[in-house]
Amino acid sequence: MRLSKSAPITPHGSKQTMESEEGSMTLFLQETMENPPRRQSAAPQGSANSARIFMCAPAHYCVDYSINPWMENQIGKADNALAIKQWENLARQLAKEAELAFVAPAPGLPDMVFAANAGLAIGKTVVVSHFATRERQPEERLFRAWFEREGFTVAPWPQDIMFEGAGDALLDHSRSLIWCGYGWRSSEAAGKLLERIFAWRTVSLRLVDPRYYHLDTCFCPLEGGWLVYYPPAFDASSQQAIAALVPSEKRIEVCEDDARSFACNAVDVNGRIFMNDASRTLQHRLRTAGFEPTLTDLSEFIKAGGAAKCLTLKLLEA
Ligand code: ARG
Repeated sequence: MRLSKSAPITPHGSKQTMESEEGSMTLFLQETMENPPRRQSAAPQGSANSARIFMCAPAHYCVDYSINPWMENQIGKADNALAIKQWENLARQLAKEAELAFVAPAPGLPDMVFAANAGLAIGKTVVVSHFATRERQPEERLFRAWFEREGFTVAPWPQDIMFEGAGDALLDHSRSLIWCGYGWRSSEAAGKLLERIFAWRTVSLRLVDPRYYHLDTCFCPLEGGWLVYYPPAFDASSQQAIAALVPSEKRIEVCEDDARSFACNAVDVNGRIFMNDASRTLQHRLRTAGFEPTLTDLSEFIKAGGAAKCLTLKLLEA
């Protein structure tokens, strides 16, 4: 079922605490007829489901520079009011499945809304991102301050190794490994460092298509060992590494149209998969695998090269 995109956030329903420039404020999330309570799913439940989800409101979101192919020709074209509605709709739906945490957005940092790039957190340890692009580097200090205030230990990280957080590092609970993407934003060396810091095995994959510049734009490990991905985004040896670790019956390859709709940029919580869009074929495959795809329009964020997964960061139990 497609959930309503128009249900307003009103002072009813569940309560979430939200940071704003003025301090803390409360966001009320309404349950409506169109937004039914969560349903049971056949998808296996795992530690990914006990996540808190970290987000950053799009108060200052716009496209005013270009650092990936999606942003070219989009400068000044994102509709901020619509982006706020789309983001609130996503947040409201996620709030039914997980606890949300918010960092205050900052003026002049339009991409801060892409909270996946804040860092990678497992348990109470976090690696804060070291952005490759000058435009996003000022976000590091704000994300770091949030993690410190929340009691996380910030792991030391060398200045010369780029790492863009959970945009390029995806946990695969069923294989107990972290898939790492490199080639555009994060350095190849990031994987080995993460392995030492978190004591999780890492597998590094080279991204070769500039449109899929972060791993989470083209690769999405799911509970139960499933994987949704777009093979042409990877070089040949990375495609082989994926095939060696994920049996073919668990690999859901998406077509180019689904890749372009950011179908791989999905957030899975409690067997539900939140995504901007997906073809009927892909939705059917996901349902057959026991998941419940939930489409939520994020057109304004795609103008900056991000969608559902980019807007969220799971703060995972160790
Ligand atoms: N405009 C942002 C950038 O290029 C989009 C980031 C999307 N985030 C992600 N996790 N894929 O950095």
